[in-house]
Parts: sequence; structure tokens; C-alpha cells
Amino acid sequence: MRILVTGANGQLGRQFNSLHNSYPKIIWKFCSKNELDITDSNSALNVVNSFNPDYMINCAAYTAVDKAEENQNAAFRVNEYGVSILAQIAKESGIHLIHYSTDYVYDLLKNTPLIETDICQPKSIYGKSKRAGEIALINSGASYTIYRVSWLYSSYNNNFVKTMLKLGSSRNELKIVNDQIGAPTYSKNLAEDTLKVISGLQVNKTNEIYNYCNGGQTTWAEFAERIFHHKSISCKIKGISTEEYGAPAPRPKWSVMNTLKIENILSAKLNHWEESLVECLEELDAMA
Ligand SMILES: NC(=O)c1ccc[n+]([C@@H]2O[C@H](COP(=O)([O-])OP(=O)(O)OC[C@H]3O[C@@H](n4cnc5c(N)ncnc54)[C@H](OP(=O)(O)O)[C@@H]3O)[C@@H](O)[C@H]2O)c1
Repeated sequence: MRILVTGANGQLGRQFNSLHNSYPKIIWKFCSKNELDITDSNSALNVVNSFNPDYMINCAAYTAVDKAEENQNAAFRVNEYGVSILAQIAKESGIHLIHYSTDYVYDLLKNTPLIETDICQPKSIYGKSKRAGEIALINSGASYTIYRVSWLYSSYNNNFVKTMLKLGSSRNELKIVNDQIGAPTYSKNLAEDTLKVISGLQVNKTNEIYNYCNGGQTTWAEFAERIFHHKSISCKIKGISTEEYGAPAPRPKWSVMNTLKIENILSAKLNHWEESLVECLEELDAMA
């Protein structure tokens, strides 16, 4: 099986790269933005044709949520137009395209977990551009799997866990938002489960959207508190509201997703978020 990964220098791309030696039967090609710009159709087509993959895993995205509010064109260019280019190539070459979206596409005020068939009404430019990318892929005629992911973190690149470890060691108190509820996603779990689903796809290829996040629910403030607890960091946390924090882009208040659909495919429950957090902290210790 041949798999091409785009956006290979991003957080999730690096996660796949770190795991690839554990999958010796797969022939991998990892493409950074320099090697394969998903908004450049000619160069993307050349790279894809010369490798001839069975699957493309698209880890490329414009993910600067706040900057997107002022850079709408840049966000849509990567998250919609870039995805439409990959989808067109996938369709023409019979490649199955695996793509990552976000809980931001829902942005609904519910008191039950979001399900894949809920309506999407994203409020931020980032969320709107990611939803536009989903629609471009769904309408392309390509064979696809879309994962809607929330609060992604890992041992790689910049993310909430690594930021908290840095700030918690240098400050006495941090103000963290405590009125957004969701679930963190450990990118190692996501990458491994993506590959498990690919093995199943060889038998039964269907187009699906899956919610994907670790089990349970929390707030950013509690997430930070548990990071500090497990690392014995004494920094205090002061919970503040989304409005007090005042980020330029609106954030969903309710990001808790129902993951039963993917759990049925995997025949397994997804790890509780705190269990995966501990695994990531151990991995970071081992890498230090
Ligand atoms: N991080 C989260 O909390 C989160 C939450 C939910 C869903 N997601 C989704 O999960 C996926 C992976 O996220 P991530 O955290 O790994 O993102 P990331 O770390 O920002 O990585 C994205 C990568 O895409 C590259 N890229 C940007 N424009 C490109 C282009 N035109 N062609 C090729 N590559 C391009 C970026 O390169 P440069 O850095 O050089 O621009 C970067 O290496 C994304 O689809 C994201 O929307 C993320």
C-alpha cells in the first residue's frame, strides 16, 4: 500500500512521520509545503503522479484561527481551494483522500454531544473555510474519509500542552478560558486510528465523515490544571470567560462530539483524554 502525506511538517504530519517505521508494509511519501503546495495544481499533480499512491492523507491546512479573521483569502485558498485540487486529483487517479476538519464547523449551542449529521453553522473564518473544504471534497466525486477533530495536541510543533508546559514553568499564575467545553485529541491516537480505518477500507470503501476526539469532556482551564498536576507544576490557574480572554476569532462554546460512529468502525472505545494526556507527557519526557 502506498500512502502520500501532505503538510508533512505540521503537527499531525510529523505525527504520521514518527509512526511510519511501525508500518513497514506501507510505502510512504511525506511532502512538506515546499515539496507539494496543495494550492498549486500542476505541481501537486506531478508529485502525486510520480508517486502513484493508493491513499493521500491531507495534513495540510491553514490553521491560524485568529489570523484568518483578517486573512480570509489565505484561509480559503488552502482550506477550500487546496482541498478541491487534491480532491480533483484523487478523483481522476482513483486515490482515496483522507482529510481532517474541525469541531469549529458545527458551532452549535447544544447540551448533548455533537453528531456528524448535526447542521453546520461555523462562525469564524477558519471554521467557514474548513466547512467549505469539506463541501468541496464531498461534492468532488472523489472517494474520501473526513475526520472532524477538536483540540489537537501532540509532542510535535506548537500546541496547547507544549505552551502550558512552557508558561507554567515560568509564571506564577495563568488566566485560562473556562467556559468552552470540549475534548482534547492526542494526535498519536488520531494517526494510529486513521491507519486502522485505512486497513478496513481495503475491504469496504465508502465515503464517511467521523467525529474524532478523546473520551470525556473538559474546559481549557481544567486541561491546563491536569497538565500541571501530572508534571507537578505549581503555577495557579485563574479561570476566565471567552469574552475576557478576547481572542479575535469567535470560538465554539460547545465542542463535545459524539464519537460512537468511529468507535463502531474501530470496534473500540477511544481513550479518555486524561489517559492520552499522560501518554503524551511521558513521550515528551522521553524526547527531552
Ligand atoms: N490544531 C488543532 O487544534 C486542530 C483542531 C481541529 C482540527 N485540526 C485540523 O487538523 C489538521 C492538522 O492540523 P495541525 O495541527 O497538524 O496543523 P499545522 O500544525 O498547522 O500543520 C499544517 C501544515 O500545513 C502546511 N500548509 C499550509 N499551507 C499549505 C499548502 N498550501 N500546501 C501544503 N501544505 C501547506 C503548513 O505549512 P506552513 O506552516 O509552512 O504554512 C503546516 O506544515 C488540519 O486540517 C486542521 O485544520 C486541527
